[in-house]
Amino acid sequence: MNILIAYYSKTGSTEMVAIELQQHLLKKGSKVRLARIFPTKELKAYQYKKNGKSLKLKQPLLDVKFFDLVVIGTPVWNFCPTPIILSYLRSMRNVKGKRFALFATCTALPGTTIQRMGNILTTNGATVLNSLTIRSIFALDEPKLAKVGLFAEALHKLLS
Ligand SMILES: Cc1cc2nc3c(=O)[nH]c(=O)nc-3n(C[C@H](O)[C@H](O)[C@H](O)COP(=O)(O)O)c2cc1C
Repeated sequence: MNILIAYYSKTGSTEMVAIELQQHLLKKGSKVRLARIFPTKELKAYQYKKNGKSLKLKQPLLDVKFFDLVVIGTPVWNFCPTPIILSYLRSMRNVKGKRFALFATCTALPGTTIQRMGNILTTNGATVLNSLTIRSIFALDEPKLAKVGLFAEALHKLLS
């Protein structure tokens, strides 16, 4: 399986989950590409337009044609996906018919983060196979990261 994990991370938690997921999926024999998404201009979180419209990204990997599965990760900001990831989801190409999985990291309240990401994708003809939300007030610990292993296991089963 050829898998893309595309994510935004400001302070490192979402990146930690992305790397952990990559390690698990690699062990299952998949080829996994990690793509960290950056805005062209890093702002304070409150300075972004919440819906991410007109937000420009730094050389994002937009064409997902050659991937069997695309995993998208975001931190939760104000109960929603980050504007950076909303912008990315809207500008991706060849989403129709593609399989996706979603994950979010937050302190406690994910709100409608996963639903909002899923809505953009399904409206564009994609299927969302599974999702994971990791809540952590402090640094991510082993039990929290263990959930990522189970998520990888579930994805592997859904794909095979
Ligand atoms: C502007 C902003 C808004 C946030 N809003 C929420 C929220 O609504 N619910 C929540 O549980 N955590 C919220 N958080 C916490 C982050 O989602 C959490 O720390 C996340 O894991 C950070 O990911 P990162 O380290 O990859 O940037 C917010 C953080 C920031 C900076």
